[in-house]
Amino acid sequence: MLKIEPSNQSCGAIVSGIDFEKGFTDNEIKSVIEAIYEYKCLVIKKQNFTYSGYKKFGSEWGDLIKHMLDYLRVPDFPEMMIIGNTEKKDQDEAIRNGASVWHSDGTYIPESTTITMLHAKKTPVSGGETLVADLVKAYEDLDENLKKEINDLEALHFYGKAEFDDDEHLPAPIRTDKQEKTNPICKKPIVLKHPFSGKKSLYGITHSPFKILGKTDSETKTILKKLKDFATQSKYIFSHKYEVGDVLLFDNLTTMHRAKSEIDFVKEDESNARLLWRLSCKGKPRLIN
Ligand SMILES: [Fe+2]
Repeated sequence: MLKIEPSNQSCGAIVSGIDFEKGFTDNEIKSVIEAIYEYKCLVIKKQNFTYSGYKKFGSEWGDLIKHMLDYLRVPDFPEMMIIGNTEKKDQDEAIRNGASVWHSDGTYIPESTTITMLHAKKTPVSGGETLVADLVKAYEDLDENLKKEINDLEALHFYGKAEFDDDEHLPAPIRTDKQEKTNPICKKPIVLKHPFSGKKSLYGITHSPFKILGKTDSETKTILKKLKDFATQSKYIFSHKYEVGDVLLFDNLTTMHRAKSEIDFVKEDESNARLLWRLSCKGKPRLIN
């Protein structure tokens, strides 16, 4: 039987008792989708998806997106990306560790990415965790004066154009003119009211914002750094160490995430192999009004 239990961390819930590859009812998928709006991220245990089953499951969360960095796509399943340290592309350190930096997926796309899911097919013995920061709680805990200052601010975004901390890796690089032109500069709010839950959270404060409208470059840097440092305190973070079969899902509108640390390239049969199937969505799930 489907079970959804809150984690003992800042956010997140653990889902068990269902095999989504075998099939699911509207009620079952709807309860899990509603749970992500409440808990902001979910880990669904013991799944063993095929490409087609994963696509069917993923499509329930919104419209699947083909990532702007086309070199990361799987050729016969272009909505999917393989994340890890075993593929030929992962020999390139810039790609392999390009998510070891705080970000929410798709903040730089006019129609923002909503849900991302990562299905673990191979998990390393050491390391490989994903960290998820709860941007609703972080927003709620901000000083009231700071809330007033940022509530109506908007920022300009472009992929990878924000400032990064010394312990962060740079995002996976844009390599072609086509990739560069796919998502021109767009404008997003710093505080977002969630379209389905109505919860307010910080939004798009890392990776892609480079200019807060009405603020100088120096003020922009100061505000974004202050918000990032506040929101990445350990009390707001859900840390997930994968087991094979896990599907970690997070709502990009209320969280940001990163790979906890950088990883080395290894052969696919080695104990530190990491391989995750990634799908992401935009828009509205068919079962949510
Ligand atoms: Fe990401």
